[in-house]
Amino acid sequence: MSVAEPADLTVADLHPALGDPALTSMNFLNEVSERYPAAVSLAAGRPYEEFFDLAAVHRHLDTFHRHLVDDLGHRPEQARRLLLQYGRTKGIVHHLIARNLAVDEGITVDPEDVVVTVGCQEAMFLVLRALRAGPADVLLAVAPTYVGLTGAARLVDLPVWPVAGGSAGVDLADLAAQVHRARAAGLRPRACYLMPDFANPSGVSIDSAQRQRLLDLATQEDLLLLEDNPYGLFHSDDGPRPPTLKALDTGRRVVYLGSFAKTVLPGARVGYVVADQRVAGPGGRVGPLADQLAMIKSMVTVNTSPIAQAVIGGRLLEHGCSLVAANTRERSAYTRNLRHLVAGLARRFPALPDQPDLPDRPAVRWTVPAGGFFVVVTVPFPVDDALLDRSGRDYGVLWTPMAHFYDDTAPVHALRLSVSAVTPEQIDVGLDRLAALITDEVTRRAG
Ligand SMILES: Cc1ncc(COP(=O)(O)O)c(C=O)c1O
Repeated sequence: MSVAEPADLTVADLHPALGDPALTSMNFLNEVSERYPAAVSLAAGRPYEEFFDLAAVHRHLDTFHRHLVDDLGHRPEQARRLLLQYGRTKGIVHHLIARNLAVDEGITVDPEDVVVTVGCQEAMFLVLRALRAGPADVLLAVAPTYVGLTGAARLVDLPVWPVAGGSAGVDLADLAAQVHRARAAGLRPRACYLMPDFANPSGVSIDSAQRQRLLDLATQEDLLLLEDNPYGLFHSDDGPRPPTLKALDTGRRVVYLGSFAKTVLPGARVGYVVADQRVAGPGGRVGPLADQLAMIKSMVTVNTSPIAQAVIGGRLLEHGCSLVAANTRERSAYTRNLRHLVAGLARRFPALPDQPDLPDRPAVRWTVPAGGFFVVVTVPFPVDDALLDRSGRDYGVLWTPMAHFYDDTAPVHALRLSVSAVTPEQIDVGLDRLAALITDEVTRRAG
């Protein structure tokens, strides 16, 4: 934005969310990447681009088209209309999503309870828009929180109250305390948002027993849970994954948010929400929350591009609706990278006593997630945007300040590294540069 240019409007006269750090965060991080294109990026949580295959996109489209004609019995002109015309607000791959959830997650859903959305981001927006009925409503979210969720909440004027995550992924005592605190203040906690599997940004997962306790607490407190699961398939061992909250949900407590960005293609911009909660309407008519979300969607994006849905649908069909099967190569690359990054950190920061330290802070530490894209590194100094800029300019490595994932201005001594968009060789280079930055920073502050 040019300073000298005459302005027609001021941000102060637009929606208060504009200019809020939650909304400017993603733009800022993208701008830094553009400013230092030669830097190694351990910042981006994007899929590895060498996996992208343009020819496969055409094939997926054809596969889905054949499915419409051969499996579902559509006449050619109907199939063409379904792919190219305005379409069903709740989407045209809902039946395949239901099949995928059954095959990969053991979740049984009625396809009518699914809304196919423009990325998971739209799904979050629709759910928050629906839940925010009035000024007493608040959303609880496990902190640190995905900034896209915080930004969407801002846009619908829904305050976000942080709930401690901790090493268990969600601190149930704190969750109960926040619910009680909100109610005591005359507020209405509508839901708690969390990522039980390899959370962005913390990398932490919730174990099976804690998932069950969380569901019990949600029932006890009459609270919805918004389960966001973009990374669950990228687990590093061959043992069974813990069931999703939705798979354990016998009381329609869980609204399940899905994304195909990491498991198929981010450029398709397709996600979905499973919202099977029964909503009583005027005249006593009861229907799924999905129908209410579709009503909102009809005024936001009308329907998700059927061409994009067809690409996702084709990919699903080509793998028996299993994204586990479709992502064997991706899972092994991401888990290899994760192990490589963690081993690389251990080599560069071998033992705490050898590390430069400050009196009030431990030395460099990092999380060791069992999957997903992200590792959090804690350092003995506050990590802010100015340091990121310097890291890109002087050291040639990018990462994400953890401060972006907390909804306050307190200094945060941690940064997020992502393994998804890089090779092991790039991880080595990136870690050498990060280690130089950390060492220089500690030395500078000690001196
Ligand atoms: C936790 C989480 N939720 C949602 C999204 C958005 O997904 P989509 O690209 O499908 O909109 C992301 C993207 O990185 C994410 O990390």
